Amino acid sequence: MTLTVNDTVAVIGAGTMGAGIAQVAAKFGHSVLLYDKMEGAAQAGLDRTTKGLEKLVARGKMSEDDKNALVGRIQPTENLADLAPARLVVEAIVENLAVKQSVFSELEELCGDDTILATNTTSISVTSIGAALKRPENLVGMHFFNPAPIMKLVEVIKGLATSEAVAQQVYDLSTAWGKHAVMAKSTPGFIVNRVARPFYAEGLRVLEEGGADEATIDAIARESGQFRMGPFELMDLIGHDVNYSVTASVFDAYYGDQRFLPSLIQKDLVEAGFHGRKTGRGFYDYSEGAEKAQPNTLAKQDAPSAITVEGNLGVAEALIARIEAAGISVTRQQTDPDETGRICIGDLVLALSDGRMATERAAEEQRSELVLFDLALDYATAGRIALVKADQASEASLNQAAGLFQALDIQVSVIDDVPGMVLMRTVAMLANEGADAVNQQVCDVAAVDVAMQSGVNYPKGPMAWADQVGLSHVHTVLTNLVASYGEDRYRPSPLLRRKV
Ligand code: NAI
Repeated sequence: MTLTVNDTVAVIGAGTMGAGIAQVAAKFGHSVLLYDKMEGAAQAGLDRTTKGLEKLVARGKMSEDDKNALVGRIQPTENLADLAPARLVVEAIVENLAVKQSVFSELEELCGDDTILATNTTSISVTSIGAALKRPENLVGMHFFNPAPIMKLVEVIKGLATSEAVAQQVYDLSTAWGKHAVMAKSTPGFIVNRVARPFYAEGLRVLEEGGADEATIDAIARESGQFRMGPFELMDLIGHDVNYSVTASVFDAYYGDQRFLPSLIQKDLVEAGFHGRKTGRGFYDYSEGAEKAQPNTLAKQDAPSAITVEGNLGVAEALIARIEAAGISVTRQQTDPDETGRICIGDLVLALSDGRMATERAAEEQRSELVLFDLALDYATAGRIALVKADQASEASLNQAAGLFQALDIQVSVIDDVPGMVLMRTVAMLANEGADAVNQQVCDVAAVDVAMQSGVNYPKGPMAWADQVGLSHVHTVLTNLVASYGEDRYRPSPLLRRKV
């Protein structure tokens, strides 16, 4: 049996998520019953939705008639028994296992045997909620992202007892609602909240080690990585209390796997009450008149007139056309195809980070004038690049390297010598986490990319990004991070190793 527009949908909990989910269902055309146990909350939820839609009407994005019809399809109620006719119930109440179990148990008694019960939980196991039910096969996770009417992703979560048919119906319905649905097994963090951890964790690590400050790391993420926000501005927006508790809960749920180790810097912020934007202070100061932190950006240096490119630059090949377009002469030299490519300007060697510290790599390759550049999403359009010099290299070499990028209208942020720089280690770890989720049968490769692009607006799915960088290079970066840190955290996923 499939769910159709003629089926009544019930939403339990009329808070941030519930009111939004009710709006999504009503927009599609369902009759929606919106229930909240707190007096007046269901009506208040509907009122908020109405206000939001009125703004759309005012901006010409929706007609008055469509708004009225949508709102008219949502019926608020304070009586759980009213939900009996629903064929799908989506729960978005307090994040508490016992409370969710008790609400679903009541619903089982009220609703038909074939009513699908869906939970919007972020962090509770669908399997464990189902354990309290008579018909756990009817329970499925339907994880929306905030704000539900705008964010495209729905993670459809299968608990151990969830029937395939039930999960498929919720997947199909989500798709019909215009959402990008992905299937995942009920595991801590599902897809997004698991795979996204390194985006924050690697930024925090670079900050902790003095590699770069917050504003510089954020600017690199935005202007080089094309993320909408850098990790620190995003954590400040989400709130450190929330972001830290998600990290800590995923870490605990995976029995302390070092992959998910929370950061002491973030714990400090939580303990200080510096929760981010909502408290006026997080990594940044949001108080009135506070100066906006600026990224470290190197002053203009002289551009070289000519460079030599040895070998192939791989993912960074697009730089060559940009260098030529800037009027700099390029001579190409073939090298051993196994060697990674490099740009040479006199004694200076400029190469893409492979996860080693520049200083270590300069020693190993016996070239002192070594400067490394970081990953960018698209070298043809990047507006900023991070550079790092080996301790052995001179300032003059660093400035020469910077002058080359600046001649292409790329701002240069010089960072300190941390392994894997900023974006390279972050993207390698995002892809590694995605690969591990796939390896552990949580979801398929395509689902990882859809989830990260539609759930958290990543500019590219981590799996496709890893393909673009080259899986072998990603594997090398991770292996070098393991060598630098001696930490299990950076261990390459067996799936990545197998593909390489
Ligand atoms: P909220 O606090 O805004 O709303 C929760 C609503 O549920 C309140 O109106 C409350 O009165 C009601 N409620 C509490 N216990 C109830 C019960 N036993 N029966 C009926 N109503 C009850 O919470 P929010 O943010 O909407 O979160 C709800 C659920 O959605 C949680 O499980 C949360 O983990 C999940 N979630 C939250 C996201 C977010 O960004 N806020 C994103 C995705 C999922």
